[in-house]
Amino acid sequence: MPELTHRRANPADCRLLGALNLQLIQDEGHRNPMNELQLGKRMRDWMRRGDYAGRIFEENGEVVAYALFREVPDEIYLRHLFVVRHRRRQGIGRRAMGLLLGEVWPRGKRLVVEALCANTPAIAFWRAMGYRDYSLCLEILPEPRGEPASGPGPA
Ligand SMILES: CC(C)(COP(=O)(O)OP(=O)(O)OC[C@H]1O[C@@H](n2cnc3c(N)ncnc32)[C@H](O)[C@@H]1OP(=O)(O)O)[C@@H](O)C(=O)NCCC(=O)NCCS
Repeated sequence: MPELTHRRANPADCRLLGALNLQLIQDEGHRNPMNELQLGKRMRDWMRRGDYAGRIFEENGEVVAYALFREVPDEIYLRHLFVVRHRRRQGIGRRAMGLLLGEVWPRGKRLVVEALCANTPAIAFWRAMGYRDYSLCLEILPEPRGEPASGPGPA
């Protein structure tokens, strides 16, 4: 099995990260409407401001995954983990998490991820990585204008 190497993402990677972020949004079924260019700019701004750090994972010089996370004194919030589509279910996500835990992140902090309820593959992945269910976000979307509000009641 080829070695999975990792390096810090820098502003020069942000065009690529914007493209991968768009695929991540599509794959997880997120509502974010931003396009590839906008996502690349957002990445660049996040990194320049130090809001998030990125990590790029490569096999034989080919980018196979990236992670984006925010570290604060007592917590590490993993906002993105993405494995390229044609390499999924081959253990790359698991190995990337092993590298983050063993070589990038300090020990002793609370580790947090969020997942959309419909993104069942990712939820299975996070649970397999040791994350445990903690909170649930519920919502009522606004009605389109002109339509009566629907509330609790018979279907
Ligand atoms: C979630 C994601 C990062 C997993 O990466 P991966 O490299 O495919 O995962 P691995 O092959 O390392 O899987 C490790 C374990 O996670 C679980 N798992 C991973 N994908 C799964 C799936 N589709 N269904 C069920 N369990 C899954 C399994 O327990 C798996 O172990 P196994 O293969 O021995 O059964 C990848 O599917 C992905 O990039 N998805 C799109 C982006 C996304 O939703 N990211 C998370 C939200 S930010």
